[in-house]
Amino acid sequence: MKNYINISDIEDLQEIITEALQLKKENSAAGTGKGKTLGLLFFNPSLRTRLSTEKAAKLLGMEVMIMNADKDGWALEFEDGAVMDSNKAEHIKEAAAVLSQYCDIIGVRAFPGLQDREKDEQDVVINSFLKYAEVPVINLESATGHPLQALTDAITVTELKKIKRPKVVLTWAPHPRALPQSVPNSFVEVMQKMEVDLVITNPEGYDLAPEITGKTPVIHKQEEALKNADFVYVKNWSSYEKYGQILSKDNSWTFNNEKLERTNNAKVMHCLPVRRNVVIADEVLDGPNSIVIQQAGNRTFAAQVVLKKLLEK
Ligand code: CP
Repeated sequence: MKNYINISDIEDLQEIITEALQLKKENSAAGTGKGKTLGLLFFNPSLRTRLSTEKAAKLLGMEVMIMNADKDGWALEFEDGAVMDSNKAEHIKEAAAVLSQYCDIIGVRAFPGLQDREKDEQDVVINSFLKYAEVPVINLESATGHPLQALTDAITVTELKKIKRPKVVLTWAPHPRALPQSVPNSFVEVMQKMEVDLVITNPEGYDLAPEITGKTPVIHKQEEALKNADFVYVKNWSSYEKYGQILSKDNSWTFNNEKLERTNNAKVMHCLPVRRNVVIADEVLDGPNSIVIQQAGNRTFAAQVVLKKLLEK
């Protein structure tokens, strides 16, 4: 693994999941990262990604530097050939090159604007770091993907599945704000590589990009999709078709115990943060089927295995 930008950067998913679960068992792999430095740049807020990646790096013996790049750094120019006479003080060419002097691996989080689909799909921030950094780059959630979260989800399903080929349902749920498609995109991509029966359910107008869904069934009736589910992944995303828009806040899609009863006693997943009683009801989050905390715990081991692979390279 040279960089970790997309799920496609994983050479052997089963192998990396097994290694992550082994790291979890050992809860230590000190040494691999000794004398190495991880730099984490956040252009957007984070709790889990920031702290689990820091913890993972420290478990490997790495030093960690974290910067809230949107607040503490110079405003960056990403356009080649720009005449920099506006508010942007530093070009990504220098910023990425300089960071490469200080860090052995760079992680970057940069969300989409959700205004211009074509622009967001270029994923300019992460791809510019990839282009100009001289060290490996990790995607800490970009405009189009969240592969560290998706690897965590794959680890969690593997860890908790009771049958060889579980049914996994990704269901849309309402939310007051327009959210990116990055988490569901990467979740679908990783599940498509696993031995699961994946079904996506969302209201009309919320279908993910056809390049993401591929042959995965998309059902617009949540109740039908949930039948016999072994895992339910609840997540909001804004419309891809009417890009970035909120088309519905229909709370009949909120995941509650009545929905849970339609499943095969499914484990309930969410990447967090979750809006209680909007996305998922208290009764589910506080009940025995919720695995969201264990899922978040696995963020450390997903980050650890990715860092280890990059260091070994
Ligand atoms: N799931 C996730 O990425 O959480 P944070 O936004 O808190 O990092």
